[in-house]
Amino acid sequence: MHAKNFIPILLLAIFPKGYCQLAQLATAAGKLYFGTATDNPELTDSPYVTQLGNTADFHQITAGNSMKWDATEPSRGTFTFTAGDTIANLALSHGQILRGHNCVWHNQLPSWVTSGNFNNATLLSIVQTHCSTLVSHYKGKIPDTILEPFNDDGTFRQSVFFTTTGTAYISAALRAARAADPAAKLYINDFNIEGTGAKSTAMANLVRSLKSQGVPIDGIGVQAHLIVGEVPSTLQQNLQNFVNLGVEVAITELDIRMTLPSTQALLTQQQQDYQTVIHACKAVSGCVGVTIWDWTDKYSWVPGTFSGQGAACPWDQNLVKKPAYQGIVNGWMQ
Ligand SMILES: *[C@@H]1O[C@H](CO)[C@@H](O)[C@H](O)[C@H]1NC(C)=O
Repeated sequence: MHAKNFIPILLLAIFPKGYCQLAQLATAAGKLYFGTATDNPELTDSPYVTQLGNTADFHQITAGNSMKWDATEPSRGTFTFTAGDTIANLALSHGQILRGHNCVWHNQLPSWVTSGNFNNATLLSIVQTHCSTLVSHYKGKIPDTILEPFNDDGTFRQSVFFTTTGTAYISAALRAARAADPAAKLYINDFNIEGTGAKSTAMANLVRSLKSQGVPIDGIGVQAHLIVGEVPSTLQQNLQNFVNLGVEVAITELDIRMTLPSTQALLTQQQQDYQTVIHACKAVSGCVGVTIWDWTDKYSWVPGTFSGQGAACPWDQNLVKKPAYQGIVNGWMQ
C-alpha cells in the first residue's frame, strides 16, 4: 500500500506544477523524448517559436526539410548546411535533442542525382560521400538514415538508388553513417508500417537481413501519418514485433488528419486516436520516443498534400490546444 502511494507523491515532488505536459509525461513514462518537426520558414513567427522552445512539451525537434539532399548537396560535392544549422542551433539553444532527417530519400533529390545516369559504383560512392559528410557535420545527433525504401506492397521502391544499386545503397549509407559518427543512432524510416502487413513484414525482413550481414542498424522509424478513425488495431503488436528484431523503434512523424471541415465528433475521435498511438509507444519498452510532424495546423504539410484534408495536429491554426493534446496526455498517463 505504501509503495502504491509513493509513486504519485514522488512525481509531484519532481514536477511541482505543469506535470501534465507532453515531454514531461514522456520522460515520466521512461521515454527519451517527445518532440516535433519544424521548418525554417516558420521561424519568423515569434509566438510559434516561443511554443516550439517550450521544453515541457517538446524536448526534441526534427528539421522538416532543411537537412534533405536538395537542401544540403544541391550540386555534386557542394554542401550547404546553413538552413539545417539554424534548426540545429535552435535545438542547442533550447537544450532539445535533434533528430537528423535524412541521408537518403527518393524525394527532394536534386536533379544531378536523379538524372546523372551514374553507374552502380559511382552512385554508391555518391551515397557514401553524402551520408558521411552530412552525419559528420551533425555529429552527436541521431539521423534517419534511409527514408521510405518500400512500396506499400512491400516491394522495394524503384528509386534511382534501387534501380542502380539494388539494396546496396542501404548498406552503403548505413556503413558510411556509422563510420562518420559511431555514436549516432541509425534508423530506417517508412510510412504505412504502423500496423502489421506486407510493408511491415518487408521492413522486418530488411532489418533482419542487414543485421545478419553485420550492417549497422539501430532502429525503425514508424512515421504514423494517420487518418482519424483509422489507427491500425495492430499498432502496438507491430511496434513490439520490430523491437523483437533487436532494434529500437520511434514514432517519427505523427499526425492524424481528417476530411475538412473539422467537427466536434472528428476532434473527439482524433483525441482518442492520439491517445491510442501514444499509449502503444508507452506500452512497448523499446519504443524510445514520439515526434509529431509539426505541432500546429498552421504549418501542417497535410492540406498542401492531401486535398480537402487537414486539422491533423494537436494545436489549431491559432496555436490553441485541441482535444488531441489531451489525448496525448491521456496516452502517456493511461
Ligand atoms: C552494386 O554494387 C554492389 C557493391 O559492389 C553490389 O553488392 C551490388 O549487387 C551491385 N548492384 C547491382 C544492381 O548490380
